[in-house]
Amino acid sequence: MRIENIEQNNNVIELEKQKEYMQKMKVHLSNLEKKTGRKQTYFLLTTGCQMNAHDSEKLAGMLETMGFAESPSEQKADFVLYNTCCIRENAEDKIYGRLGRLKYYKKQNPNMKIAICGCMTQQDVVIEKLQKSYKYVDIVFGTFNLYKLPELLYESLETKDTLFDIWKEEKEIVENLPTVYKNTFQASVNIMYGCDNFCAYCIVPYVRGRERSRKPQEIIQEIQKLVNNGVKEVMLLGQNVNSYGKNLQTPVSFAQLLTQINEIEGLERIRFMTSHPKDLSDELILAMKECDKVCNYIHLPIQSGSNRILKWMNRHYTKEHYLELVQKLKQSIKDITISTDIIVGFPGETEEDFQQTLDVVRQVQYCTAFTFIYSKRSGTPAATMENQIPEDVVKDRFDRLLKVLNPIVAQVHQKQVGKTVNVLVEEVSKQDAATLTGRAEDNTLVHFKGTKDLIGSIIPIKIIDNKTFYVIGERA
Ligand code: 5AD
Ligand code: SF4
Repeated sequence: MRIENIEQNNNVIELEKQKEYMQKMKVHLSNLEKKTGRKQTYFLLTTGCQMNAHDSEKLAGMLETMGFAESPSEQKADFVLYNTCCIRENAEDKIYGRLGRLKYYKKQNPNMKIAICGCMTQQDVVIEKLQKSYKYVDIVFGTFNLYKLPELLYESLETKDTLFDIWKEEKEIVENLPTVYKNTFQASVNIMYGCDNFCAYCIVPYVRGRERSRKPQEIIQEIQKLVNNGVKEVMLLGQNVNSYGKNLQTPVSFAQLLTQINEIEGLERIRFMTSHPKDLSDELILAMKECDKVCNYIHLPIQSGSNRILKWMNRHYTKEHYLELVQKLKQSIKDITISTDIIVGFPGETEEDFQQTLDVVRQVQYCTAFTFIYSKRSGTPAATMENQIPEDVVKDRFDRLLKVLNPIVAQVHQKQVGKTVNVLVEEVSKQDAATLTGRAEDNTLVHFKGTKDLIGSIIPIKIIDNKTFYVIGERA
């Protein structure tokens, strides 16, 4: 109990300290505004997963509290911040490319401040490269000290050198940072940070640290506050939500957490990601069935259908176990849809292994699958494995995977034609101003004709046509 209190105090002290820096920055920015006759602006680029997107909502929250306004143009912004991903090599290459362009922008506007944070900067090789070739970057910080942005920005006013502040490991979780949400009716909520699984291909455990869960009361309080402000749907985020709560002083299972969140009055939908098959319990399946607010959808990454490859990947389940879980989910939860992640071309993958993956795709009937070409990440065990697969072989398998997958996705959506589903209306379609888009409970993307006053409401829509990756509906 005492330890918990001390932790709590450290968190509160850190938050208070950053609030002071936000205040100091506010004074500084308002002086600049008086001098220049315009508000100081920021441009925030986010790459990667929903976890990173949610981190960016906190970064934006801090920046706006300091008095920055969002800039639509990177070139004209006073402060440019890249919140980066490193899960695959091409994500990093894109950031280096954009940083190159920024050098040119900074020449035109020498007062521009540039910062980079997120998963990429947690790697020594990246830091070395930034130190050597990107000296014009002003601030570099990582995933564990994201909340220090106000302090770092303030410090960087005083120095011309690049400020590097990268922590090797996680410390306490700083709660209650100001946050800018993408809309008023949906919100992401972290329930845990880090990952302990060390899948052989994955860099995440090295850049996001060990698994740590937030206390249920902190999560409930946050969601309650969000609901009081109009939020209808929450997305609970963690690298492996199924192992939530194991390391808490008073352990709580993910199923128990879901049951508690389900009680929150006014909340209408609960989603979560990502589930690891090895930790998906019968207790969780039962909770999904019994909690009326938990959506009938699960993202359950398979990665490969071959037991040999799954073993090399360090995934701790077999194809048979995975298919058994899928069976249980389909039997227990009415009309559940299932999506997945698949990696093609893991070292040593043979044609026979790949056929096993195709077999799983055919058996499960996914509503969507995120398919990836294996990318070598230095520092991970897979990077030094023999039998790295030649590019042309991987590319051919990747294309064949999509050829099997896409008709299945279309079939799953075709089955929905004729049904009436409840859709949370999210936005006006980017292609057509008269069309709205939203999601059904089972995560199906629905397009239908409507006016933008419907955004944020949950309304019944009749599905009338299938377009493979989304469906067309009309007001029921
Ligand atoms: N190469 C390709 N895909 C990867 N993923 C993680 N690491 C790699 C890698 N090195 C994929 C996995 C994971 C998803 C978020 O990204 O499928 O589930
Ligand atoms: Fe990476 Fe595996 Fe952890 Fe997911 S569970 S973040 S794939 S190590």
